[in-house]
Amino acid sequence: MSPSLVSVAYLGAAILFILSLGGLSNPETARRGNLLGMIGMAIAVLATVFGPRVGAEGYAWIIGALVIGGGIGLWAARIVKMTQMPELIALMHSLVGLAACIVGFASYVDTSLQFEGAEKTIHEVEIYLGILIGAYTFSGSVIAFGKLSGKIGGKPVLLPARHWINLVALLAMVWFGRQFLAAPDVQAGMTPLLIMTVIAVLLGIHMIMAIGGADMPVVISMLNSYSGWAAAATGFMLSNDLLIVTGALVGSSGAILSYIMCNAMNRNFISVIAGGFGSGGGAAAKKGDAAEPQGEVVPVSAAETAELLREAKRVIIVPGYGMAVAQAQHTVYEITQTLRDKGVEVHFAIHPVAGRMPGHMNVLLAEAKVPYDIVMEMDEINEEFPDADVAMVIGANDIVNPSALEDPESPIAGMPVLEVWKARHSIVMKRSMASGYAGVDNPLFYKENNRMLFGDAKKMLDEVLVALKA
Ligand code: TAP
Repeated sequence: MSPSLVSVAYLGAAILFILSLGGLSNPETARRGNLLGMIGMAIAVLATVFGPRVGAEGYAWIIGALVIGGGIGLWAARIVKMTQMPELIALMHSLVGLAACIVGFASYVDTSLQFEGAEKTIHEVEIYLGILIGAYTFSGSVIAFGKLSGKIGGKPVLLPARHWINLVALLAMVWFGRQFLAAPDVQAGMTPLLIMTVIAVLLGIHMIMAIGGADMPVVISMLNSYSGWAAAATGFMLSNDLLIVTGALVGSSGAILSYIMCNAMNRNFISVIAGGFGSGGGAAAKKGDAAEPQGEVVPVSAAETAELLREAKRVIIVPGYGMAVAQAQHTVYEITQTLRDKGVEVHFAIHPVAGRMPGHMNVLLAEAKVPYDIVMEMDEINEEFPDADVAMVIGANDIVNPSALEDPESPIAGMPVLEVWKARHSIVMKRSMASGYAGVDNPLFYKENNRMLFGDAKKMLDEVLVALKA
């Protein structure tokens, strides 16, 4: 393939990536967006492999890597459950970071690349920054994977003087950067480069360990953004325009998503990345007085739930992580249809961080064919709760926790929540009294108009459906 044909292919791929991102912004066009992204990536890979920079002697390596990487990808796609997707994504981000590091070291020791003067400095800055972002993204994403999969506790680990530690680490990396650029040869430059890599790895671990459970959504999208910048840096190192464009697209869209999430959760972006949020103002998750559970919980049966639903005129369903775990979305759809056939008005209320990844609930509801026009965002639906007869909470917890609004001491204080307790009745479906992801008690369970339907969401909803149809 001639260089000009490769450039045209890269341009086409870049346009397809932009259209893909546009498509992913809406559930109705998301499938098409995915398809466009896949076509763009296929064009990009083919143009690179058959382009002028890969000789025939490289094909065996590329085919080997494709078979191994593609095989692992296929295997992972088949065994990973929907609820494990965020962990998988965190692992993928770590691989992007690792790749940026490896490419950085390889381009530094590559003797075939001869740069002089300003070009040499620019190339070395690209290498230094690429490895720095890559190493931070790598270790941070591994910790995020650990937290999301429950292998590492969700509580923030807050070292004394942690902000000073971060600042000193940053200054040290700047200082080693100067040493690196001033090094007379590759051997001399290797020492500051290696030391900076170790500091960046430790900084990634330290900063992500300090972030509390409730702020993990922001961290994931932030690491997504970093992985994009790491890819863009790799593009600079390899002088690959498409990688620069793609990395910048991922980096900027991840940054925008992090910003939107911070707004949705009423968090300050800088405070989240500096760590310690989601911990009750710096202390380990502390329970404020207002959050202390008071009173008794009132359990109900599936038949009683069906009765309440049958008598209702307006029902709002609030899905959460537990619906995803139980894979109850299809039964939820059937209950929705049954109620709508009986003339009951049904709406779904979606919290921006419900579940474990952005859009988690929308994906599940779309899969179950719930019509989009009855699925409402938090801002639109919150004022509807006082007019609802029943608010049915399916496996959600943190996103319906009143202490976020009522208890300034709560670790999730200030986070907007779905105000289900304002409905005439709320019914919470979960298996036990256990807390949610943020590890915070939920006073909703003890409210007078709240009922608890204990059990696996799918099993209980199946029973509710049978009772509704009887
Ligand atoms: P959570 O607060 O995690 O609560 C989910 C509840 O579902 C749990 O309390 C659990 O209680 C219940 N549950 C689990 N399995 C169940 C099953 N099979 N049947 C019925 N119930 C089941 O979820 P949420 O309300 O959706 O809030 C999301 C939380 O995750 C927030 O804290 C958010 O910050 C965090 N987070 C979100 C994201 C994104 S991007 N969405 C990413 C990372 C973290 P039992 O054990 O008693 O059943």
